[in-house]
Amino acid sequence: MEKVSLDDMSNKFCPQALFLYGTYKEDGTPNFGLFCWISYCWDAELGVMACIGGEKLTKDRIRKTKVFSANLVTESLLPLADYLGNTEGYAAGKMNVPIEVEPGAVLDVPVLKESPWIFELEVIQSMPLDGGDVFLCKIRNVLAAKELADESKSLEERMKFVAPVITAGIQKYFKLNPESMGAWGDWKNAIL
Ligand SMILES: Cc1cc2nc3c(=O)[nH]c(=O)nc-3n(C[C@H](O)[C@H](O)[C@H](O)COP(=O)(O)O)c2cc1C
Repeated sequence: MEKVSLDDMSNKFCPQALFLYGTYKEDGTPNFGLFCWISYCWDAELGVMACIGGEKLTKDRIRKTKVFSANLVTESLLPLADYLGNTEGYAAGKMNVPIEVEPGAVLDVPVLKESPWIFELEVIQSMPLDGGDVFLCKIRNVLAAKELADESKSLEERMKFVAPVITAGIQKYFKLNPESMGAWGDWKNAIL
């Protein structure tokens, strides 16, 4: 495959899941923003690492409360997610939209009724960088749609049920094709 060096250090074509981060504002009402710079780390157990660039309400509230929810974005949540990712929490009235929110099960965080996979996260370490901040988090609870705990359904069926939306650093949203390509380890002998 012939390669070219690109001018921009981008992550175009590198897929990322999308999450809506929920925090409580100072007045106790919820705020949500859309985020994709999120991944996982291992620290005796599964953890989450999240990067928030610039100054924004979500970051202010995470710094203050040290907790937030990360709600997986699905196809049906996309219109709301796109709005919440393109409207500043500092703007009055951002949250005056139809949105179904309930309290987290373990932490004092707001969660979205419609998201099928939600992490309740507690920040254990914050790393301020040059305009961005990385938050290392312990997963204090996973709230999953009960359909996802139904072991009688195949993983493919459950992936179809979730219907996650991804992005890829090219300012577009994509659907996932939930067709399985086998399990980890199924392929390793194919190259020998
Ligand atoms: C698709 C998409 C992904 C985004 N991912 C991030 C991200 O990972 N980190 C970040 O700092 N901002 C990200 N943003 C921008 C925030 O969603 C935006 O700043 C929003 O206003 C945050 O909500 P808040 O102002 O209520 O805190 C993203 C926006 C979009 C549309």
